[in-house]
Amino acid sequence: MKGSQDRIIIFDTTLRDGEQSPGASMDVHEKVLVAKQLEILGVDKIEAGFPITSPGDFDAVQAIAGEIEKSSVVGLCRAKDEDIQAAWGAIKDARKPCIHTFIATSDIHLKYQLRMSQDEVLKSVEHSVSLSKSLCADVEFSAMDATRSDWDFLADVYTVAIASGAGTINVPDTVGYTNPQEFFNLITHLKKKVKDIEKAVISVHCHNDLGMAVANSVSAVMAGARQIECTINGIGERAGNTSLEEVVMIFNVRKDLYGVTSNIDTTQIYPTSRLITHITGIPVQPNKAIVGANAFAHESGIHQDGYLKERSTYEIMTPEAVGLGTSSLVLGKHSGKHALSKRLEQLGYRLDDKDVKKVFKRFKEIADKKKEIFDEDIEAIVLEEIYRVPDKYVLKNIVVNSGTVVVPTATVQLAVDNKLIQEAGFGNGPVDALYKTIIRMAGFDVELKSFTVKAITGGTDAQGEVTIELTDKGRTAVGQGSDPDILVACARALVNAMNRMEFLKTRQRSDAPHL
Ligand code: KIV
Ligand code: ZN
Repeated sequence: MKGSQDRIIIFDTTLRDGEQSPGASMDVHEKVLVAKQLEILGVDKIEAGFPITSPGDFDAVQAIAGEIEKSSVVGLCRAKDEDIQAAWGAIKDARKPCIHTFIATSDIHLKYQLRMSQDEVLKSVEHSVSLSKSLCADVEFSAMDATRSDWDFLADVYTVAIASGAGTINVPDTVGYTNPQEFFNLITHLKKKVKDIEKAVISVHCHNDLGMAVANSVSAVMAGARQIECTINGIGERAGNTSLEEVVMIFNVRKDLYGVTSNIDTTQIYPTSRLITHITGIPVQPNKAIVGANAFAHESGIHQDGYLKERSTYEIMTPEAVGLGTSSLVLGKHSGKHALSKRLEQLGYRLDDKDVKKVFKRFKEIADKKKEIFDEDIEAIVLEEIYRVPDKYVLKNIVVNSGTVVVPTATVQLAVDNKLIQEAGFGNGPVDALYKTIIRMAGFDVELKSFTVKAITGGTDAQGEVTIELTDKGRTAVGQGSDPDILVACARALVNAMNRMEFLKTRQRSDAPHL
């Protein structure tokens, strides 16, 4: 096979299924930033949200539709008129809008959740896809829980969807139940049984409950699927979704085996992964393929020896290929804006002049405290200065006293809605004093769920990166902060988490359908 048949459409659902990961809520501003980065990454379709679920989701999808130029902007909806109208309302101004409508097809879902017969489902598919098509030229239909559905019924469902105007038929493994061989056979079955299947793109959407989401997606491509739904870092409902970076690099590294390509600029993978970690607060496990901290680290003596003689002995792809800079140029306090701007570009960040100036300002502050500024430091600055929620709370100054003979005390200056307030408080240690004082000043009644500190680079002058997770009546907000002074990093992370909690409070998920 040659030509466009060989290109896999990358459908990114980080902003929709990814956002369903516990604690991963993003506000409109953050979603637009992510969408813009996904476009730079080169994804074909961005599933921006599920507009009927809340006014916040509707606004975010609409804002993304107004900003994105090259990628399609997809709005999700159940097979219900009001959902479809809401999705269309949110995406209609996009350059390339796409309605994605779905209904469950497995016996379990029909019996217990939908309480519908198979005939009723078929009618609903015909109606919802036709209505979607009357509004939007690009329609995708998904049969939820496809892999646990009756295969012949599923073929009938997709036949009706295509006849009603669906250009893409998606086969979700909603509960991560199938395996690569079975999924291959299912796609093969559908190719034989669904009428006019060649008129539609076959898409797959896999969950990772048994750790097989990526393998199942690859297997579906081998059987003829040409769209993969996936998320950055594999985040998503429960155990997550197919990881974008893994499927993309599988096809990239093993072109010889699969003979398919994608439109992804692989050098943008790492900056995108870091952006998602920063915004959602969901860390990437160190041994995660492609984007984990150890993905390119060679530890054993034999491996290091071989690697130093010839990289390809133990390296099947280079870190540079996925955008992990291995720069020999270390910046410091004498470096100018031009050098920083060049380094930002090499690291994959496309910032306008205004943003470069913001990064430069913070760069200079850090360079005053720390002799050498590494790529990881620059990345932390970008994430904090550029990709952060608009602030209700702004940390102005802190002074912390601690040691063997004093009671740990923190004095904090905070701007709340532009009004400056100042207070002092005690604690069991300097972090505790700081935390209690800031929380009290903001009038928060929250629980600290987790608190982690790590050094971004080596050395005692390394920046500390602090991640704080707060919970309040079932809501979880994550904040991150970094600074060479670990207490400043703590305060920055806490204030960031508070700003995110504020946002979550304003975002009511009414009677939101949750997938
Ligand atoms: O997992 C699932 O079935 C979904 C559908 C909406 C595609 O997320
Ligand atoms: Zn899903």
